[in-house]
Amino acid sequence: MRPPLLIANWKMNMFREEAKAYCQELHSALVQSPSLAKRVAWILIPPLTALDILKPFQKGLYSLGAQNCHWEKGGAYTGEISPFMLADVGCRYVIAGHSERRMHFGESDEVVGRKVATIVEAGLVPILCIGEQWAERERGETLQKIERQLLEGLRGVKKGGEMVVAYEPVWAIGSGKTPSAEEIADIHRAIRQILCAKFSPAWGNQASVVYGGSVHSQNAAQFASRPEVNGFLVGGASLKVKEFLAIAGAFRWRVPAKS
Ligand code: PGA
Repeated sequence: MRPPLLIANWKMNMFREEAKAYCQELHSALVQSPSLAKRVAWILIPPLTALDILKPFQKGLYSLGAQNCHWEKGGAYTGEISPFMLADVGCRYVIAGHSERRMHFGESDEVVGRKVATIVEAGLVPILCIGEQWAERERGETLQKIERQLLEGLRGVKKGGEMVVAYEPVWAIGSGKTPSAEEIADIHRAIRQILCAKFSPAWGNQASVVYGGSVHSQNAAQFASRPEVNGFLVGGASLKVKEFLAIAGAFRWRVPAKS
């Protein structure tokens, strides 16, 4: 059984000195507690300016990722970075379609789909973010929205490798509000069904479906108790090491992965 994924999305936070102090604290906590280190697959997604700070502390304890990328391999796109370049600096995961990018930078489903395809082409693992707005939930359109974002987001993916889908209701991000564990489990099951139907059941069943949106140490256990939840994508609460470690503790009940 694969361990659940615990993904820290630092967003546009953490100067280099702060990142260094964070890594020192996380590294020593994980080295001191091998069982905690193995309880989840740790994935840190810092701003790119801190990536080189995180690398020396990695030592097989965590993987690195990026919060965004361009959909082309290279070329005249001032200010952009391609998934191939992210692979070159040691990233393994790339977030695509985060709601903050859809909202503030106008990223369409089509753009997100192109990014996901290039991430896969570069040999990296996409973390495709999908989720409904509050008004869509109120209108009972959650499943429709999720299915559309999923199908568009995966449109260009030709081969079935490692894949992460993050269910992140837009209204839950940074708000302190969350759906119930029951609702999250239902949506995760629906996501997996769509993945199995669009690709192969084997591929759909091996994808990780994680939850994101106001996860913290006090609410993580109720979500982690659902087998449909294959991990968390954590924003605000990932910025403090103790809080992040406590969230990993929520997966205590799961069988640790064999090393
Ligand atoms: P949050 O953010 O944990 O601060 O709600 C989650 C995310 O945006 O991925």
